[in-house]
Amino acid sequence: MRQLQLIAHGEPSEVIELNTVSEPALGQEDVLISMEAAPMNPSDFLFVRGMYGIRPAFPSSVGAEGVGRVAKIGSKVDVALRGKRVLILPTYEQGTWADEVVAPVRNLVPMSDETDPLQLSMIGINPATAYLLLNRYVSLMPGDWIGQTAANAAMGQYIIALAKLAGVKTLNVVRREEAAEQVRRWGGDRVVLQGDNLHKDVEEALDGKKLSLVLDAVGGPPVGELAKSLKPGGSIVVYALQSGQFPAISPGDLIYRGLSLHGFWLINWIRNAPRTEIEEIYQKLGDLVADGSLSAAVEHVYPLAQFKEAFRQSLKSNRSGKILFQFGATDQTDRG
Ligand SMILES: NC(=O)c1ccc[n+]([C@@H]2O[C@H](COP(=O)([O-])OP(=O)(O)OC[C@H]3O[C@@H](n4cnc5c(N)ncnc54)[C@H](OP(=O)(O)O)[C@@H]3O)[C@@H](O)[C@H]2O)c1
Repeated sequence: MRQLQLIAHGEPSEVIELNTVSEPALGQEDVLISMEAAPMNPSDFLFVRGMYGIRPAFPSSVGAEGVGRVAKIGSKVDVALRGKRVLILPTYEQGTWADEVVAPVRNLVPMSDETDPLQLSMIGINPATAYLLLNRYVSLMPGDWIGQTAANAAMGQYIIALAKLAGVKTLNVVRREEAAEQVRRWGGDRVVLQGDNLHKDVEEALDGKKLSLVLDAVGGPPVGELAKSLKPGGSIVVYALQSGQFPAISPGDLIYRGLSLHGFWLINWIRNAPRTEIEEIYQKLGDLVADGSLSAAVEHVYPLAQFKEAFRQSLKSNRSGKILFQFGATDQTDRG
């Protein structure tokens, strides 16, 4: 089987090789999955660079999430799983950038055969995170407002869609006009450009309303400016630091207005949540993808052999959507 392998930490196209490896023996509770699709996420590149919360031993398989079909099963695996489409959870015990993957059955959730495998391949990380961010920190009611940074990211698109389903309004911050247009098309209720007058622009956009929750993927000043528009006692959840800067939130806002600051990492939830909760949430997200309520924009898909081009495109700013590997795809396909 062909597998992308990480041989050291560093720049993705310099430290990842496409190798043919022999099929490992299946453990009793393992399955062999013939992969259909796997996305590239910012966290994969943090993992590759040695900047993630999990460090691999080299050589390591790579790629956190994806979907495929069960081709072979271990002796203790339910035979009903044979041939089924499964979502591979981002546990980092297996790498999904490979045409075949061996994974323990505990890391899989069955998915519908009828749904687009590209969209299903992306629900392991971002939609689950979006769902938990919206449901864990404040009890949001229809008509409440939330604010978010990097709103044109795939995460932003999922947050807007899930908020809409709950009747919650979104105030979205992006850093370029093209991205603002995209977020408006996705149904973001207000869109504001990240700039020197962010607090004033946010206040104008909210027109007297206050935020209940701020979700931040950027760090630095924007999250602090958004936090100024939170209700007293509101929550800020930081789930990424795209700018590399510490979230600049005024201690006065935290102390005198009783705001609370939280950090979220999906992997902690996957490690600690009861199995029934994990299955329930992924099934719910799979159903929302199936009925078209939940999706992420896709810019381009690549076959595994074109991984260097896929990385180049995935790592550039100003994308219109995600970059994915599609297995069995012979040609690259534009989705822009
Ligand atoms: N904590 C968790 O458990 C968890 C779970 C899921 C995702 N995440 C994190 O969430 C973030 C978004 O993930 P994704 O897959 O949705 O990303 P994505 O679709 O690849 O989008 C990346 C986004 O980051 C923005 N960005 C990049 N550098 C920036 C900077 N210096 N300042 C402001 N914005 C910047 C991009 O803006 P442009 O389009 O303008 O370039 C784009 O909106 C990633 O950092 C990911 O690791 C964390």
